[in-house]
Amino acid sequence: MSSHTGHQAEGPYGYFDGAAREYVITRPDTPRPWFNYLMNGTYVAMVSNTGGGVSYDTDPRVYRLLRYRYQNVPYDRPGRYIYLRDADSGRYWSATWAPVHMPVEKCRYTCRVGTGYMIVTLAYDGIRTELTYFVPPEGRLEIWDLTVANVSRRTRRLQTFSYAEFAFWGAMRDLMNIDNCPNVSRQRHEEGTILHYSFNDIGAGLHDMRFVQNYGYHTSSEPPHGYNGDRDRFLGRYRDERNPAVVETGRSTDYCADGGYPIGSLEHRFTLRPGQSKRLVYRTGISAGEKTWRRDARQYGSFAAVDRAFAALRAHWDERLSRCRAATPDPEFDTLVNGFLQYQSAVTMRLSRSISSYEWGIGRSIGFRDSSQDQLGLMHAFPELARTMIEHIVGAMREDGSACHNFNPITGVWGTNGFYDDHNWPALTVSQYVRETGDEAFLDQMLPYALSRARGTVYEHLQRANDLAFRLRGRHGLLQIGAADWNDSLNPGDRKSESIFTSALYGASTRALLALARRRGDAAYARALARRYALVERRINGIGWDGAWYKRLLKRDGEVLGSRHTREYGRIFLEPQPWAVLAGFATGARARQALDSVERRLATPYGHRVMDRPFRRFDMEAIGSAGIHPAGIKENGSVFHHAASWMIAAEAAIGRGDRAMACFKRMCALRFSRDAERHETEPYVMCQFVSAAPFHTVGRGRNAWLTGSAAWMAVGALQYILGCRPDFDGLTIDPCIPARWQGFTITRLFRGTTYRITVRNPRGVQKGVRQLTVDGEPVSGCLIPHRPGRQEVMVDVLMG
Ligand code: GLC
Repeated sequence: MSSHTGHQAEGPYGYFDGAAREYVITRPDTPRPWFNYLMNGTYVAMVSNTGGGVSYDTDPRVYRLLRYRYQNVPYDRPGRYIYLRDADSGRYWSATWAPVHMPVEKCRYTCRVGTGYMIVTLAYDGIRTELTYFVPPEGRLEIWDLTVANVSRRTRRLQTFSYAEFAFWGAMRDLMNIDNCPNVSRQRHEEGTILHYSFNDIGAGLHDMRFVQNYGYHTSSEPPHGYNGDRDRFLGRYRDERNPAVVETGRSTDYCADGGYPIGSLEHRFTLRPGQSKRLVYRTGISAGEKTWRRDARQYGSFAAVDRAFAALRAHWDERLSRCRAATPDPEFDTLVNGFLQYQSAVTMRLSRSISSYEWGIGRSIGFRDSSQDQLGLMHAFPELARTMIEHIVGAMREDGSACHNFNPITGVWGTNGFYDDHNWPALTVSQYVRETGDEAFLDQMLPYALSRARGTVYEHLQRANDLAFRLRGRHGLLQIGAADWNDSLNPGDRKSESIFTSALYGASTRALLALARRRGDAAYARALARRYALVERRINGIGWDGAWYKRLLKRDGEVLGSRHTREYGRIFLEPQPWAVLAGFATGARARQALDSVERRLATPYGHRVMDRPFRRFDMEAIGSAGIHPAGIKENGSVFHHAASWMIAAEAAIGRGDRAMACFKRMCALRFSRDAERHETEPYVMCQFVSAAPFHTVGRGRNAWLTGSAAWMAVGALQYILGCRPDFDGLTIDPCIPARWQGFTITRLFRGTTYRITVRNPRGVQKGVRQLTVDGEPVSGCLIPHRPGRQEVMVDVLMG
């Protein structure tokens, strides 16, 4: 079992290299630019497989170093480019294929998409380049590490020109103040470094201007032969990045001055004999000001320092991703679960829905419900990050128990509330955090309430949320939808419509809080919660049940969405079904029936659709905005992977391992690698949704990277299929696997102890632990009691 080397899931544009934890893109002209995130604690660079993408430090609204041109063609332009030019022939090309776009058949290209790095190799015209982009663990900068090798049979005189297009810092300013920006531009060249240090206004508008000056720099490992600071002069009139005048003529402008559109471009010239190669390292970063930039721009000045930083980056991810590793009979499962799924979850934990090739980094920042769920996937590997994020999340809850739907912890911008599912999520997040870390004192930590001077403990925040949720019930005793529940597009005019989904979520949330209350000995509140739970359970199983599945919305006018009696559209919705199971509201035959209905009516080869039938008309009052989407995409009936991945957990919760795995495999990135032509979007990460019939193009993915499907696929795989869940007093191991699996192993770091777990399944069951042995001692049940201070614990699990 285990360690799968070489090619997996080979498709038209690439394959997985499981052992290296890389996806190897084998041609540059992918259906869309395929991105990766390179980041450390503060600096973030989005880099596409052809070198495109934006970068910023700390906050994508304020400290944007490299520009994002929205709705651009292609989507990833501009980027961080290296042009090469043969000084004798005058031929030129680019090391990442873009932006010159040489004939693909003449390029030998690969891009290794790795954990925190991209390595693009390209052989063209007898010259081979290897370009590694990464963000070192420390510092506010990105590194482009280039090696140029002469693989032809003659001596070559070469020129290289780098290209980095600076943004005017403030993202809104850069986008909207197009009169002012080029007239504030400040730029100079000094000893081989190009500086951009325009003022940025971080105030709230004309009545509140607060100017700060940041320094952006672009420099390289050796003095350049020429430089270019002005975009328009570099490109030349009526040209673009594809055919810059400077590159075409081979003559740098040596112009870098105030005003205009700043870029950083450095020219180097060198001669390579056959077989010879040359290394050049570029550094592009941010510094606080005139006093600091020289020091900052000198960081990573030697190749040795660059190599050390890259090794540290690799070591960081090796260590984090080693905290939970599985070896199962299914190599594709292992590749995704040990690699990109965890990696993507780490990215979403931190970035939520802020900036991607679909999100502009100005609007939503941290989505409250999004981030609450994003923390669930990889808490075990990043408990410190989870804690910081949870502090932000809990601090975005208001005194009345509601939540700010979006917030930006850095700029302190708070979005609206009124989405009544929001405040139900944190109990699940906090409860998992406490179970993972054992840090029950976290519940007593004082945190602010949003938009108020008041403070309260984490536990009080959660109590207020539950109290509010229970109060916001409608006339059938179920929870109201408010502006919309988790499904943004189900936002009918009547906010008092009762949402079966939110009611089910409330059940799961209440159970989580109840366990915390009992743990703290808060018996009175625990009793209250138990009563609330029982009441909602009765209602949801009464009025909420439609006969073969749970309904979706009970409107005040008596109309029901998500019922077999619903006419025209919306007979069955996905969301309430798995959540009724996860809440413990649906059990036994009813649970099976609800999930069977989902399978029967919503299954596609790519996962489950979010509803059937899709809306064919727009009716804001009755339905909400779902109808603005053509049928079969987004919330109007697509395979919305975020919701579809809840099914993994739900199927496993009722013991159907074959089904749980089938759900996983339908959405498993590896299948999209094979099917990349249709899928279009990055096949190594989960996307938000895949289009479904009746949409004209079925199977097409959109909104890769920043989606809740990452965390939920990870939760489904690790906590439900492999069944390894943190608990207050130890680690629960309760797998729910395909009957054909004869066993698997999982190594799991838990509160400082490494648990080496071997699961055997000789009888071919899907669920059920017959015998648990911990360090040779039999233990009853399926909780591995935590042994603090121990380095390693051996666990043997016999299913049957
Ligand atoms: C997107 C949003 C999320 C919402 C979901 C369903 O994932 O980020 O907030 O719940 O869509 O509408």
